[in-house]
Amino acid sequence: MVLEGKTIYLREERISDIETFVKLRNDMATQAWNKALPPDYTLPMYQKRFEEKEFSFDRKDARFTIIHKESDELVGTISYSEYESRFSTTIGLVVRKKFWGTGASFDAQEVLLKFLFEELGLLVARIWTQSGNPRAIRLAEKSGFRVSARVRESIFIHGKIFDTLIMDLLREEYYSLHPELLDGLPPI
Ligand SMILES: CC(C)(COP(=O)(O)OP(=O)(O)OC[C@H]1O[C@@H](n2cnc3c(N)ncnc32)[C@H](O)[C@@H]1OP(=O)(O)O)[C@@H](O)C(=O)NCCC(=O)NCCS
Repeated sequence: MVLEGKTIYLREERISDIETFVKLRNDMATQAWNKALPPDYTLPMYQKRFEEKEFSFDRKDARFTIIHKESDELVGTISYSEYESRFSTTIGLVVRKKFWGTGASFDAQEVLLKFLFEELGLLVARIWTQSGNPRAIRLAEKSGFRVSARVRESIFIHGKIFDTLIMDLLREEYYSLHPELLDGLPPI
C-alpha cells in the first residue's frame, strides 16, 4: 500500500532508485546541507545504506521514494528520522530540479505529514534548514511550519554565512489547517 497524494505517491525505496539519489547528493544545487559535503558519494555507499536497512516493528525512521503518478518518473526522496514515539520527528526532502515549482514537493510533504499526524499520532514535526535556502523555507511555511529556533551565523555555504533554522509544526496547527480531518487524539 502506497501513500497517495494528488500528483505523486510515496513508496518504499528500491535499489533501482539509488543511482538518482547519488546524483542528487552530488549535485551542489540539490545537496542542500554543507554537512554532507564533499559531493563524492558513490553507488556502493548508497547500496550499503540500502542493504543495511533491517526489518523491524519498532522503526525510528523511514525513507520514501516520490513517484510522479502521470509519468511514473522518480521525483525525489522524502524521509523522517529522529523519531520519538507519539512525540516528534524530523523531515528531510530532496526533489529533482525538473520537478521544482510543479507542486510535487508540496504534495509529497503533505502526504508525509498526514501519515505522521494521522497514523503515527505525532505531536510535532520538525525541519532543519538554513536561511540561505528560501525554497525550503517557503515550502515548509506553505504546510504551516514556522521558524522556532535560529542559530545565527552557523552555516557556511556557497561562500556566505547563514543561520541554521529549526522549523516546526505542532499537531494542533496541522489540524487547524486541515478542517477536513478530525484529530482523534484526546487533548493532553
Ligand atoms: C526544497 C525543495 C524540496 C522545494 O521544492 P520546490 O518544488 O522548489 O518547492 P515549491 O516550488 O513548491 O515552493 C518553493 C517556494 O519558494 C519560493 N521561492 C523560490 N525562490 C525563492 C527565493 N529566492 N526567495 C523566496 N522564495 C522563493 C517559490 O516561489 C515557492 O513559493 P510559492 O509557491 O509561494 O510561490 C527543492 O527545492 C529541493 O529539493 N531543493 C534541494 C534540497 C533541499 O534544499 N531540501 C530541503 C532541505 S531542508
